Amino acid sequence: MIGAYFLGNKTIETRQLNFPEPGEGEVLLRVCACGVCGTDVHIYQGGKGSAEVTPPVILGHEFSGYIEKIGPGVEGLKVGQLVTVDPNIYCGKCLPCRQGQKQMCHHMGAVGVNRDGGFADYCLAPYAQCVVVPEGTDPELAAMAEPIACCLHGIDRVGIRPGENVLVVGGGTIGQIMLQLARKAGAAKVVLSEPVEKRRALALELGADAAIDPIHENLNERLYEILGCEGADVVIECVGHPKTSEQAIDAAARCGRVMLFGVPHPDAVLQTKMHPIFQKELTIMGSFVNPDTQTRAVALIASGQLNLKPLITHRYPVSQLEDAINMQTSAESIKVLVVTEE
Ligand SMILES: NC(=O)c1ccc[n+]([C@@H]2O[C@H](COP(=O)([O-])OP(=O)(O)OC[C@H]3O[C@@H](n4cnc5c(N)ncnc54)[C@H](O)[C@@H]3O)[C@@H](O)[C@H]2O)c1
Ligand SMILES: [Zn+2]
Ligand SMILES: [Zn+2]
Repeated sequence: MIGAYFLGNKTIETRQLNFPEPGEGEVLLRVCACGVCGTDVHIYQGGKGSAEVTPPVILGHEFSGYIEKIGPGVEGLKVGQLVTVDPNIYCGKCLPCRQGQKQMCHHMGAVGVNRDGGFADYCLAPYAQCVVVPEGTDPELAAMAEPIACCLHGIDRVGIRPGENVLVVGGGTIGQIMLQLARKAGAAKVVLSEPVEKRRALALELGADAAIDPIHENLNERLYEILGCEGADVVIECVGHPKTSEQAIDAAARCGRVMLFGVPHPDAVLQTKMHPIFQKELTIMGSFVNPDTQTRAVALIASGQLNLKPLITHRYPVSQLEDAINMQTSAESIKVLVVTEE
């Protein structure tokens, strides 16, 4: 088998490996597909993941795979089943874990961040992190469960009520999933703001009511025309930049909620007029990873209610992970998958 090791300092090395033996509570997965996430790109470029990165390590936390071998103490799983892995591992003992806020765990670990992940032919995963995928589900779509699970946590937090208008800022993979989830949550109108023409067109194909070019159009004026009223009840920022976060706050209706879902640079500073936050009684919130939402993500994928196929634009073998990471940063791609050859 091969695995693509991240060695730190923008270096990936493909290594031949021996098949790992599953230890207590572990399963060995034959990886089908593993998405390249913005977090993988950040880590590759020297940034942080949801847990501390300790190279050499195989990255990749958005994957699906078939159970090849089962270790001692594993319950409820069978060889041959297709599973997705919820990468984030919580200690279950610290105060946030015991208060129902596991995503704030003081000792969080993650498959594909601080233990070997899915950019390999095979991967060892703790069985309790695996979610069984219903038969007949496309394994490539199952590999999208983790980003969808993160989006579900954001959608839950922002609490869209049927009939509300939603603006999604940023039409990468996350924005394109968010706009579909907003629709499922009952939004009356869903609008995307996105500078890349192809991504605006895709959003319309996936069910957005309108798509605005924030570079050549006035976002708030266009929003008024589309909604027939001032501002969106819910704005979901999926870029992670101060400017787009400021736009998101500006575009929110009175009593609106603003979800800052994008991951900003650790030193990024948000500068925005304070008075509208007071006057419009805005609620501004963040969202971190996917606590308890992976099973719902898998159920949604299996139900066929999300249009995910058009989001997968490129596929690379494990041996070309660096090309895959570079393609993920290009406007040409939406979601890049690393796939294992049959
Ligand atoms: N909160 C979480 O748990 C969580 C989970 C996964 C991803 N994320 C974050 O969500 C964000 C989106 O992820 P992605 O994979 O879709 O990233 P992406 O880089 O593919 O998408 C960002 C999009 O924003 C667009 N954009 C750039 N400038 C813009 C502007 N001025 N106005 C509107 N859109 C603009 C880009 O063209 C691009 O399409 C990232 O920051 C990612 O790290 C957060
Ligand atoms: Zn991710
Ligand atoms: Zn904990």
